[in-house]
Amino acid sequence: MTAQCYWIARKGSALQGTLAIPGDKSISHRAVMFAALADGTSHIDGFLEGEDTRATATIFSQMGVRIETPSASQRIVHGVGVDGLKPPPRELDCGNAGTGMRLLAGLLAAQPFDSTLIGDASLSKRPMRRVTAPLAQMGAKIDTRADGTPPLHIHGGQPLQGIDYELPVASAQVKSAVLLAGLYAHGETCVVEPHPTRDYSERMLRAFGVEIEFSPGKARLRGGQRLRAADISVPADFSSAAFFIVAASIIPGSEVRLGSVGLNPRRTGLLTALRLMGADIREENHAEQGGEQVADLVVRYAPLHGAEIPEAVVPDMIDEFPALFVAAAAASGKTVVRGAAELRVKESDRLAAMATGLRSLGLRVDETEDGATIHGGPLGSGTIESHGDHRISMAFAIAGQLSTGEVRINDVANVATSFPGFDTLSVGAGFGLSVRS
Ligand code: S3P
Repeated sequence: MTAQCYWIARKGSALQGTLAIPGDKSISHRAVMFAALADGTSHIDGFLEGEDTRATATIFSQMGVRIETPSASQRIVHGVGVDGLKPPPRELDCGNAGTGMRLLAGLLAAQPFDSTLIGDASLSKRPMRRVTAPLAQMGAKIDTRADGTPPLHIHGGQPLQGIDYELPVASAQVKSAVLLAGLYAHGETCVVEPHPTRDYSERMLRAFGVEIEFSPGKARLRGGQRLRAADISVPADFSSAAFFIVAASIIPGSEVRLGSVGLNPRRTGLLTALRLMGADIREENHAEQGGEQVADLVVRYAPLHGAEIPEAVVPDMIDEFPALFVAAAAASGKTVVRGAAELRVKESDRLAAMATGLRSLGLRVDETEDGATIHGGPLGSGTIESHGDHRISMAFAIAGQLSTGEVRINDVANVATSFPGFDTLSVGAGFGLSVRS
C-alpha cells in the first residue's frame, strides 16, 4: 500500500471464525534488540512482520548484527554482545516506531560511537525530551530539534552514571530507555513509575540472563552485565486483537475466536472497560508462552451501554482508545474518558483524530484536554483523516461496519507498521472493506 491508499468501509456481515492475530509489536522490538546485544545466537518465533519491527531489525543489521529470516515471523539473531555493535554507516531510520526510537536512544547513548536516529513524518513530531532528559542526567549527550523532536543526534563515548529516576509520566518506553542505558552505566539504575506500565523489558532482560529486580511500577539493575542468548516466543498482540474484540462486540450476530493472545495485565485494560460496558468476552485455554500469559479470546456480540472508564485503567489500555471510542459510539448512552492526555502525543493526536472522525460521521463527541465524552448513536457516511495513524485507520474500518452508508478512510498505508494483512483478515471475517488508491 502507498500513502495515497484509502479504504472504503461499509456494512459487511456478522463476524465469524478463528482469527490469527500477528505477533506482539512491543515484544518483537525488544526481542530483536536484546538478542542483538546477547552473547550467542537467539531464535525468535512469532516475530511481527510489521514495518516498525522490521525497521528495528534493519537498524541492528546496519550496526553489524547478522539476522536471518528462515521463514516469515522467525528470526535467528547472531548476537554481538553488549560491546559488539559497529558504528552505523548512515542515519538509522526508525520509521513510525516510537518504541524503536526511544529504546534505541537509551542503548545508543551508551555506545562508543556517534549515531543519528530519524523517523517518518509522524515520529518526527513526537516528544523525545521524556527520554533525553533522564539520559542526560546519566551523562548522555543527545541533540534534538529545538522543540525536543527528532532527529536524535547521539554523541557516543560518554561515560554514564546510574540514576534513581521517578518518571513524570507512565511510559514503558522511557522506563526501558533508562534501563538500557543503565546496563552500561556505573552503579545501579532504579526507575519508579507513577502507574505500572508493561514490563516486557524487565521480563525479557531476565530471560536473557540479566539480574534485574522488578515489581509493578519499579525496576532496578546494576550496570556492567552481559546478556546470554535466549529463545523468544512472541504471543499475538493484544492491541491488534483489540480491533476484532470491539468489532465482534458491536456487530450483531458476531462470534470470533482469537488464538493465543498476550494477556499481560498491563495491556488488557480494554477488557475491563468493555466488560463494564456489557461485552461478552470469554478467556479459554489459559497458558504461558515465552513467560507471558496467553489465552484464546472468544468474543460474542452483546448490546453495549456507555460507562465511565476508570482513570486507573487508562495506562493499561493506552493503545486501545481508538477502538474503545468506536465501542462507545455503538453503545447506548454516554462513555466518559478522562486522564488520557498521553493520547495527544501518540502516532497522532488520537483524542482529536477520533473525536473529529466520529463527529464527521454524525456522532456527538465532547472533547476535553485529557479525554472525551462520546454519546452513542447511529453512524452515517463520511471521510476520515487517519493522520497516517494505523490505529485510527483500523478503528474507523470498524466504525464503517455500523455506518448507514460508506466511510472513506484516508492514508491507511501505516496499518502495515503494526498489523500487516489487517484488510485481508478483516474481509475474511466478514468486514465490508475495500482497498483503493
Ligand atoms: C510501548 C509503550 C507505550 C505504547 C506503545 C508501545 C512499548 O508507549 O503506547 O505503543 O513498547 O513500550 P509509552 O511508553 O510512551 O506509553
